[in-house]
Amino acid sequence: MEMLVRRGFIWQSFEIYGGMAGFIDYAPLGNGLRRKIEDLWREFFVINERSVEIDTPTVGIEDVFIASGHAEGFTDVAIECSSCGRVFRADHYVKEKLNLEVDPTVEAVKNVVQEFNLKCECGGDFKEPEHINLMFETKIGPGRGKKGYLRPETAQGIFIAFKRLSDYFRNKLPFGVAQIGRAYRNEISPRQGVIRLREFNQAELEFFCHPGEKRHPEFDRYADDVVTLVDKFDKEHRVTLREAVEKGIIAHELLAYFVGKTRRFLLAAGIRDEKLRFRQHKDDERAHYAVDCWDAEVLLSYGWIEVVGIADRSDYDLSRHTQFSREDLSVFVPYDEPVKVKRRRVVPNIPKLGPAFRDRAKKIAEELEKLEDAGDEVVLTINGEEIKVPSEYYEIREVEEEVHGERVVPHVIEPSFGLDRITYAVLEHAFDTDTVDGEERRVLRLERRLAPVQVAVLPLLSRDEFVEEAETIAGELRENGIYTELDITGSIGRRYRRYDEIGTPFCITIDHQTFEDGTVTIRDRDSTSQVRVKKSELVRIIQELLNSGKSITEFGEVFRP
Ligand code: GAP
Repeated sequence: MEMLVRRGFIWQSFEIYGGMAGFIDYAPLGNGLRRKIEDLWREFFVINERSVEIDTPTVGIEDVFIASGHAEGFTDVAIECSSCGRVFRADHYVKEKLNLEVDPTVEAVKNVVQEFNLKCECGGDFKEPEHINLMFETKIGPGRGKKGYLRPETAQGIFIAFKRLSDYFRNKLPFGVAQIGRAYRNEISPRQGVIRLREFNQAELEFFCHPGEKRHPEFDRYADDVVTLVDKFDKEHRVTLREAVEKGIIAHELLAYFVGKTRRFLLAAGIRDEKLRFRQHKDDERAHYAVDCWDAEVLLSYGWIEVVGIADRSDYDLSRHTQFSREDLSVFVPYDEPVKVKRRRVVPNIPKLGPAFRDRAKKIAEELEKLEDAGDEVVLTINGEEIKVPSEYYEIREVEEEVHGERVVPHVIEPSFGLDRITYAVLEHAFDTDTVDGEERRVLRLERRLAPVQVAVLPLLSRDEFVEEAETIAGELRENGIYTELDITGSIGRRYRRYDEIGTPFCITIDHQTFEDGTVTIRDRDSTSQVRVKKSELVRIIQELLNSGKSITEFGEVFRP
């Protein structure tokens, strides 16, 4: 963390006013890295998926979060000290002070507090534990305004636009909708640096599927990948994803597909496979909307930390929004072949209905036709009026009908990524030390394409002709979209160390020979070896190096000065 702050990756927000837990600034390098991780995510989960990306407001009206269940159920159990007034998240406090895992329920926390006579850090007694909602409340508009919340997840913006999205996809399941953006949670006691923030960045994919078809046509891409799974009974499995589905460890192919894809994405970002596992939520741990959930957890200096949640949200969200908005959010799914079915139909007797019900007869006939069956009398509500229609006004017929499809409320499989945690994890896994020329060196072995500064151009001397040449070369690299820094201060050794520490994969050095034969050197961050190449070929070579795993040895004879 010291290095990340000093070098300009992450800063404490509101620093000059003393800071506030749970907020961070992305400094220039951290911002560059997070943006590149976002682009990599987009490649995996938008461009190479059956999905599109949208962007919806970060403020939501209250109705949305009543329907979604967050207004009622998005809570943590907290304990408040009756003496100093500090409030702690109960399960974290119990873990920290007693090294015990407590179920996150009021009852379980109460028992632990009593049994172990748990006190506040100030020595005071705790009040009764209680649920605290984690959403930030706000007011929309002037005066009394309308109650709103800052969104605790980007997902709701997708669910409430579902009707439009489904039309966009011509109602053809499955399809995915992604959103990248800020989410807000008024965490009770945010700690652990960037791991638990009050304002953070999510990248979420809501993948809508037929409830009976939780498969993915491209499952084979990942089916033979071997993953580490920890099931809800804490049993560890090292299996292929195909085996995981066949043995019922993972409930269905679609969840397994996203476990596989998530793993490949995290590896591409530089997370180490041996420090990555997928852990299934226990029954009492799942969010209120999930029927199953697998977290991608990464081993960091803080222990195993959840960076992604892959949940089966079933039809929970679409059904709740249907119920609260009264909009039909189902999709018509056509059958391959029409199916013949026998049905009972209620057929209105129009000649009798007309004289008896006059101007209401037409509406009554329409409502009767919608019914599948009827007894001796039907009670209809039309324009708020209750109307009794005796059986003499309709007859029941059995008919054979061709059915062309069915209406279903799609289920949702949701891989939800915390970009801040992933960015931090990438940095921790990339951080390394080695010995170069008898000195310890700190180096960030970031994936080349993710490095915030891709190339540093370093003139050996600060004389005008060296600097001018360096400026020309840096300009050419920048024109070709390569993020380049020019650095003329300090000894060349110190400059190399600076760029090693921020993960710059290549340094270009302009030396005396540049003026003799038009060549420069490229130094590789990881091996610290160099090659000499023609200036005229530099942009092409750097592009190849950045976009592939190629070694500099492919571009010239390697030397170490
Ligand atoms: N839409 C589902 C959802 O929001 P979640 O497991 O609550 O699921 C998804 O959050 C991811 O967001 C987590 O895996 C984590 O990486 C990240 N996340 C959640 N709360 C966070 C916080 N307070 N600070 C930083 N990241 C957080």
